[in-house]
Amino acid sequence: MSTPNAYELGFRSVEREVTDRRLPVEGTIPDWLSGRLIRNGPGRFEVGGERATHWFDGLAMLRKYAVDDGEVHYTNRFLRTEAYDAAARGERTGEFASGPGSVRQTLRWLRALGPPASTDNANVHVARFGDHYVAQTEAPRWIAFDPDTLTTRGEFRWTDDLTVHLTAAHTTVDPRTGETVGFGLQFGRRHRYHLYAVDPETAARRRIGSVRAEGPGYVHDCAVTRDYVVLVETPLRIDVWRALVPWGDGLLDMLRYDDDRGTRLLVVDRETGGLVADPTVDPFFTFHHVNAYQSDGEVVMDLVAFADASIVDALTFETLSRDAFAAAPEGRLDRFRIDPDAAEVIRTRRYDGGLELPTVPPAVRTRPYRYAYAQATDRRGANGLVKVDIDRETATEWWARGVYVEEPRMIQRPGADAEDAGVVLAPALDTDAERTVLLVFDAETLSLLARAPLPHAVPFGFHGRFFPADA
Ligand SMILES: [Fe+2]
Repeated sequence: MSTPNAYELGFRSVEREVTDRRLPVEGTIPDWLSGRLIRNGPGRFEVGGERATHWFDGLAMLRKYAVDDGEVHYTNRFLRTEAYDAAARGERTGEFASGPGSVRQTLRWLRALGPPASTDNANVHVARFGDHYVAQTEAPRWIAFDPDTLTTRGEFRWTDDLTVHLTAAHTTVDPRTGETVGFGLQFGRRHRYHLYAVDPETAARRRIGSVRAEGPGYVHDCAVTRDYVVLVETPLRIDVWRALVPWGDGLLDMLRYDDDRGTRLLVVDRETGGLVADPTVDPFFTFHHVNAYQSDGEVVMDLVAFADASIVDALTFETLSRDAFAAAPEGRLDRFRIDPDAAEVIRTRRYDGGLELPTVPPAVRTRPYRYAYAQATDRRGANGLVKVDIDRETATEWWARGVYVEEPRMIQRPGADAEDAGVVLAPALDTDAERTVLLVFDAETLSLLARAPLPHAVPFGFHGRFFPADA
């Protein structure tokens, strides 16, 4: 029998939940490293004997790697949500029958009833607001969980009355203020993006401001600097008709790429909420930002750019099953320098290799920085780890055949001066061993310090955060 390939292992449902399992460690994890890497992603893909069609549609499963004293303890737990219960009964959720009608009819209906209930399958990201640990997705239903046991606490509800119909699962913590910045989209006669900031102590949400959405665009993430938030509205548009039956047909079916449009950069003042500039540049698509900051009156914004939105289709199981991620187009690290006064934009490429799932250590977010870490994507039969030196436009990479690295998280060594002093934690699927391993790298050199194999292969996840023990 041949070894299962990356597709079979990386998108295979997990049945078993493991609690606080001590993992064998090969190599040495630095003893200063203490905290929890908590990640989110799909864990199960079949409901009632039918398989989901897209990576994004698997049932949410949290995974935790608790690191202390050179040891790692692993826990995985499905979120106990309405979607989970429905799946246990063999039912899909979020389906909502809707016939064709006029825009006016639909908007009247929307105003009268609100949008149909969206899914609570929060499988994309995690965040901490005050004492609340929350699993996030793009439907505005986030789920609170216990960070020790990963048990589900119930739906996380804001105390304000801000209405969003879709929301970004990515939120950005400003290390200067501790505030978390995020945004959501409200459909209406005029669609609007609402930007907000979450107080680090009270977990209360404050509206920064609202700007008009054109399209509206599908915006997955944003850039945050000291004074600005930048939303990148690409030509990937949300078909409002489809979005009104959210999650029934899945995310894919509600998106349309409009080649005739450019990409609009909406620069919003964090203090006043006003739209400072909205220059339009040549079309491109992006999911993820790397980092952003201000320099000489300009906004410097780094992100992973795709030539178009074909990446979205490349993540369906139909395409992935052919050769895992090999057919997916490559994202590139591009820098945009935006002069808000002149509404001028200069775009430059900072690294030529393919990459995705970029991260920087929390302390450099919103600030000038030099190093980004990401999944390296441009070889067949593996996904590597890359560290990009953005100033010098050079990179260091780590690869191993048959090993598929997920999103890396860099953790700086407390008290160290150098930006890249510390470690990188990244889970990876080892296809030969048929299991997932937690990899620990030296963040300066990308030399592998330790690997800790899990008792099983976990489906490819999306995003996570490292929560230090002393924070
Ligand atoms: Fe994402």
